[in-house]
Amino acid sequence: MVLVESRLAVIPDFPTPGILFRDLTPVFADGPAFHALAEAITEPFAGRFEHLGGVEARGFLLAGAASVLCGAGVLPVRKAGKLPRAVLSEEYALEYGTAALEVHEGELPPGSRVLIVDDVLATGGTVGAAARLVERAGWVVAGISVAIELEGLGGREALDRASGGAYEVRSLLQY
Ligand code: PRP
Repeated sequence: MVLVESRLAVIPDFPTPGILFRDLTPVFADGPAFHALAEAITEPFAGRFEHLGGVEARGFLLAGAASVLCGAGVLPVRKAGKLPRAVLSEEYALEYGTAALEVHEGELPPGSRVLIVDDVLATGGTVGAAARLVERAGWVVAGISVAIELEGLGGREALDRASGGAYEVRSLLQY
């Protein structure tokens, strides 16, 4: 993770004053760093999943790269209104208002084990909604793996409360 962390950009006051934004795009732009990140994101869950649930948008990059390395398929967990067939939809809270994530019904066989992958865990709203979708669809949450965990925003605790501690949550870098 030293290589990954060395490529991470830290931007003060983005997207709003007072927020220190940690930007993974220089990691994606660096082949060896991206490769290391894509390997590390699934490593703790090796042998325990068949699919990667990549959350739009940066989770797509991670899930896509990791899937090629580990041989798992990708379940795209999309923002509302993007998927063409029948969907399941889950709302989650934003700072102001709500948003929704969606998956296609029946995209995976019943009981498929899905590792949810995203770039950042902040409040946990996003990956929490992804986990609810996986369960409602009849699949199993194999775990939640993120590149960056912003401790202090309560995401891990919120996920623990929502699942009764059922989800294994891993992060590669903590701030
Ligand atoms: C960011 C980030 C995570 C989410 C984390 O996505 O990529 O998906 O926020 O925040 P949370 O834990 O508080 O839910 P964003 O909603 O900005 O969408 P984007 O990936 O399309 O930019």
